[in-house]
Amino acid sequence: MKMGSQNYFKVLIICLIAIIGSTHAQLQLGFYAKSCPKAEKIILKYVHKHIPHVPSLAAALIRLHFHDCFVRGCDASVLVNSTQSNTAERDSFPNLTLRGFEFIDTVKSIVEAECPGVVSCADILALTARDSVHSIGGPFWKVPTGRRDGTISKTADVLLGLPAPFHNVSTLLTLFGNVGLDAKDLVLLSGAHTIGVSHCSTISTRLYNFTGKGDQDPDLDSKYAKNLKTRKCKDINDQTTLIEMDPGSRNTFDLGYYKQVVKNRGLFQSDATLLKSSTTKSIIDQQLKSNKKFFIEFAKSMEKMGRINVKVGTDGEIRKHCSLVN
Ligand code: HEM
Ligand SMILES: *[C@@H]1O[C@H](CO)[C@@H](O)[C@H](O)[C@H]1NC(C)=O
Ligand SMILES: *[C@@H]1O[C@H](CO)[C@@H](O)[C@H](O)[C@H]1NC(C)=O
Ligand SMILES: *[C@@H]1O[C@H](CO)[C@@H](O)[C@H](O)[C@H]1NC(C)=O
Ligand SMILES: *[C@@H]1O[C@H](CO)[C@@H](O)[C@H](O)[C@H]1NC(C)=O
Repeated sequence: MKMGSQNYFKVLIICLIAIIGSTHAQLQLGFYAKSCPKAEKIILKYVHKHIPHVPSLAAALIRLHFHDCFVRGCDASVLVNSTQSNTAERDSFPNLTLRGFEFIDTVKSIVEAECPGVVSCADILALTARDSVHSIGGPFWKVPTGRRDGTISKTADVLLGLPAPFHNVSTLLTLFGNVGLDAKDLVLLSGAHTIGVSHCSTISTRLYNFTGKGDQDPDLDSKYAKNLKTRKCKDINDQTTLIEMDPGSRNTFDLGYYKQVVKNRGLFQSDATLLKSSTTKSIIDQQLKSNKKFFIEFAKSMEKMGRINVKVGTDGEIRKHCSLVN
């Protein structure tokens, strides 16, 4: 079939518009500089005012951002409430331990009061996570903005995309690879486990019933395991007790996580397994040499994570309430 030159011209124009459109629609630093110039400052101010009183929320917020980005991209789908006809991401099994939703809802309401319908929940989550971690003395990373909020949130997606604490290094590399992150990102971002807490239930099989024979995971330092069992996680059915992932410095962003991991004291199999590949092991060893470099590298990986499958331009929406699709 022969195409007339007019048709070629039309196709060319459409392609050009598509190219211009797509290069224009990207995240950019200060995306709200004109549309809501105070937005980023309002968020920073609120975080600086409140996080010092609840420093443990910084961990909850960066984890929320991670869960958001790994499932359907950084589109605030993790914040959406379930409805009668839909079970949302936040009601999936791994959600049980997510925290910080109310904090995000409050930040959103303050930003909405300044500029209604302008700033996305996905950006608010990304900025709040960054500012919270920085305010407890952690790294600072760039958060280009312009993300738009998704309209879909499904519990089933979580099990497909989100890494689990029992995953081995090859599965973790695959799941990170699926969202454009590499081995370095895996090791660096796992470093966020230098802050925050876990539930005993998350490691109860490692402690009490690893292969179903009432045994312990041999990859977990036996002294450490014994300590946990006598002082913290006293029985296999404990659903409530919290344990620090980096004991003694759960609110300090430092090299503590890597120090634990190399001593076989990483809490999850997904932490311990990072010693099993020479690639990931050597990235851990590099981090241990310099806290300053760790912060720089962590920042790079966070910025990368914040770009996972973002919706921009006219995609998605700007939610009015972070827990409700408009
Ligand atoms: C590599 C794959 C990862 C796995 C399998 C994983 C798994 C988990 C699990 C199971 C918990 C504790 C849940 C509980 O029992 O309460 C947790 C906590 C946490 N994770 Fe991860 N995680 C991973 C990567 C990340 C990343 C990339 C970040 C952030 C950049 C992150 C930040 C956190 C933080 C800060 C906490 C503590 C949350 C709190 O104190 O409420 N994790 N993670
Ligand atoms: C979403 O659910 C949470 C927890 O059940 C609730 O506190 C919040 O008010 C809900 N959000 C909206 C906008 O209804
Ligand atoms: C997580 O999901 C369960 C149901 O599976 C629900 O009862 C709980 O409220 C959810 N937690 C949060 C923080 O939304
Ligand atoms: C990692 O886990 C996957 C899924 O359970 C399994 O198929 C694979 O053989 C494991 N890889 C290694 C190296 O243990
Ligand atoms: C340990 O695991 C086995 C196999 O899955 C199970 O039959 C047994 O009930 C478990 N023991 C406890 C104490 O939960």
